[in-house]
Amino acid sequence: MADDNNSTEVVVCLGSSCFARGNSQNLAVVEEYLLHHGMQNSVRVTGCLCQDECKRGPNMVVGGEHHHEMDPARLREILLALSSGTS
Ligand code: FES
Repeated sequence: MADDNNSTEVVVCLGSSCFARGNSQNLAVVEEYLLHHGMQNSVRVTGCLCQDECKRGPNMVVGGEHHHEMDPARLREILLALSSGTS
């Protein structure tokens, strides 16, 4: 079993504003990317409630780094960088 301490965490804000403004799609992008790159065991995806930063959303935290106004293109770039560091 993978050691959770070694896994990177992706936290997707699932509050209504972030979810409606793009995180529903961003979440699908993350799950598809991890599946296609065999990263399900090295990246843990979780959700969170509203972080009171709706104006800057959709918000997401990847590996402890906060990202705002996330869109699928930028998200794929971030995941690509992540995949080169977690193999
Ligand atoms: S819904 Fe994401 S910060 Fe408010």
